[in-house]
Amino acid sequence: MSEAIRRAGGLNSHPVAYSAEEDLLWGTMVSKLNAMHPRVASSRYLQAKNRLPLPADGAPRIDDLGQRLNNSTGFRLLPVDGLTPVADFYGRFAADIFSTALYLRCPSRPHYSPEPDMLHELVGHVVMLSDPLFADLYRLFGEATNNATCAQDLQAISQVFWFTMETGLVQEDGQAKAYGAALLSSTGELDKLGTYPVEKFSIQEMIESDYDISTYQGKLFIAQSVEEMASEVRSFLTHV
Ligand SMILES: [Fe+2]
Repeated sequence: MSEAIRRAGGLNSHPVAYSAEEDLLWGTMVSKLNAMHPRVASSRYLQAKNRLPLPADGAPRIDDLGQRLNNSTGFRLLPVDGLTPVADFYGRFAADIFSTALYLRCPSRPHYSPEPDMLHELVGHVVMLSDPLFADLYRLFGEATNNATCAQDLQAISQVFWFTMETGLVQEDGQAKAYGAALLSSTGELDKLGTYPVEKFSIQEMIESDYDISTYQGKLFIAQSVEEMASEVRSFLTHV
């Protein structure tokens, strides 16, 4: 076990107890997101959520959730304090490790969190990581990060991760549906989904586009299918 993992309390450990107020905030937001998802989430996400349901009556235990995720795709959860350096966050995917924040967003601003909190990590990323196709893509992001030899490549990987795994959309039955974690975990983002500029899926455009994680989105990319997105992302990550 690495020092960072030991300090964090270990894989799939549960070092935090949540207050009644935090359990209430978690339950309220998960219930609101559960009500929104059937209309705006991709079918892939809805299937993943059935596979890895999250409690709506209080914050989940990380050890239990981590074990259920591990049974699905082999991924494990590493609880961390604060922000993880981006190369470590992505790089750990190659070892089937997802670093997850344990704090909950400010109750006065429940619809959106500028930093990744537990709602974002679990409702967004961890649910998606129970899908084998997405788990494989996360692993590839990790391998590409670990193999990157310059800051420019790391930046390109980061941009593509942002515009796919965080804010990606896919066409389903003529409608734009979300598969990205940042969208799926924010009632504020999901409310505004129809108002964002949406562009055709393009890895090159993603690399050349600016983004700001501290506010609502300025631009989204839509793929014709999850398979198209996965094929393009795989190709990019194996050649970057
Ligand atoms: Fe994220």
